[in-house]
Amino acid sequence: MIPNDIIAKRDEPVPEDVARLLASVPEWFAQPESNAQYIRAASSKETWTVRDTQQQVLAVALVDRHFPQAIEIHLIVVDRAHHGLGIGSELVAAIEHDALAGNVRLMQVKTLGASHPDAGYAKTRRFYEKLGFLSLEETELWGSGTPCLIMVKPLDQVAASA
Ligand SMILES: CC(C)(COP(=O)(O)OP(=O)(O)OC[C@H]1O[C@@H](n2cnc3c(N)ncnc32)[C@H](O)[C@@H]1OP(=O)(O)O)[C@@H](O)C(=O)NCCC(=O)NCCS
Repeated sequence: MIPNDIIAKRDEPVPEDVARLLASVPEWFAQPESNAQYIRAASSKETWTVRDTQQQVLAVALVDRHFPQAIEIHLIVVDRAHHGLGIGSELVAAIEHDALAGNVRLMQVKTLGASHPDAGYAKTRRFYEKLGFLSLEETELWGSGTPCLIMVKPLDQVAASA
């Protein structure tokens, strides 16, 4: 796939695709109970996808709208065979574009913090940093041993620099 073919859009819930995509990245999503929660969440949460020309889902993001001015990417996962091709960036850009149009000012993600040595999540943090997310706080929201890094991206800045 070349970047021009990548179209990210708001979609219907795709819990079965979420299950398949999570299973493709066991290094990041290895806990069955946590995966089951994501798959359940995928039945009702706002869903964004990237599909290929055969309509196969290559990537999914689930979005929470906590307040009119603040959204959270609850889950983002790209099929393992398609990492590093710009698909995740395109998905976040589409969500961001829609958010800006709706006057949302802050986008949040939670991920594994750097005080955990996991190499996969170090890549994930680089992905968010590259897209302009800033580390806000590392918390024990997920329990000790699973540091939760809260990252935020102010969208006003994007609007100002666009
Ligand atoms: C993180 C993820 C969503 C990024 O999507 P992507 O389509 O692979 O990323 P893009 O191609 O748009 O961006 C590439 C950048 O992301 C980073 N990156 C993060 N994970 C990566 C991976 N597995 N492979 C390649 N690049 C990755 C790199 O910094 C890369 O930039 P570089 O090529 O200049 O080094 C995707 O790799 C993924 O699903 N990872 C596993 C699940 C996960 O971490 N989900 C988020 C949990 S909080």
